[in-house]
Amino acid sequence: MGSFLEVESSMPDLVDLDELHAPLVPLLWLVLTQVPARHGRVALDVACGTGRKSGWLAEGLPPEGRVIGIDRDVAALSVAQQHNPGMPFVWLAGDAQALPLHADVADLVWCVAALGLFADADLALRELRRVLRPGGTVIVATGAQLWVRARHWPPDLAALLAAAYAQVPATGSSPVPPADELGVDLAAQLTRAGLAEVVVRAFLAESALADVSPPAAELALADWSVLRTRVAPWLSSAELERCDAFATAEPEPEIATVLLVGIAVKS
Ligand SMILES: C[S@@+](CC[C@H](N)C(=O)[O-])C[C@H]1O[C@@H](n2cnc3c(N)ncnc32)[C@H](O)[C@@H]1O
Repeated sequence: MGSFLEVESSMPDLVDLDELHAPLVPLLWLVLTQVPARHGRVALDVACGTGRKSGWLAEGLPPEGRVIGIDRDVAALSVAQQHNPGMPFVWLAGDAQALPLHADVADLVWCVAALGLFADADLALRELRRVLRPGGTVIVATGAQLWVRARHWPPDLAALLAAAYAQVPATGSSPVPPADELGVDLAAQLTRAGLAEVVVRAFLAESALADVSPPAAELALADWSVLRTRVAPWLSSAELERCDAFATAEPEPEIATVLLVGIAVKS
């Protein structure tokens, strides 16, 4: 059994995945829409389950593009087909650890809530890399209950930081890394699989935060010293001082639900 996100889809009576994943939807959508590879020709949804998120991949594709959904659960695939009728979808039964595809076929490989279910996650990640074309992007998202030191910014500062952080991509900066080496294991796994330009983003998966602002869910776990340098140009000195004053107190460790998203490129 994997973590909270990674419940086998053949257990519909025990868990409603839509309900379970609802707080994560805006977070995953944010990540997906920031990746240029989603506009490539072929997007692969590995361990797609009932295809709840496969349609998202179709939204970014050009007219001739294809989404290939792969899962080992044939019953889930038939539900996926009903949820996502017609073109541009192709549904394949297969194992993530031995993908039924040639090398170098996909512009984007997307794998959500499944990494912890694979018997050999390293092998699966090498497979994701194999089927990716050079220059293509892989996004692997996984959730877990983790010890974290989250900064629960007061709502006014959270809104201020989120607004400032929204300006940052314009400078071409990569996302602010999580504090306390959160996600280093996932980064190491992606690197071990031979992937490059590895970035791991961590989101505090609290529905209240996610509903209000996906950036707030990320900023709660961000390394303040890095975040500070990124947002400083967009804050007044008085605003920055208020943030500094709040950030001075080290957050207490707590167990929280965290969404980790690894993004990497095949060089
Ligand atoms: C929690 S569901 C996630 C489904 C989908 N990615 C989503 O986010 O809605 C996990 C899926 O992983 C699939 N799965 C588990 N191990 C697999 C493997 N070795 N190869 C392919 N699919 C696998 C299960 O059949 C299940 O559909």
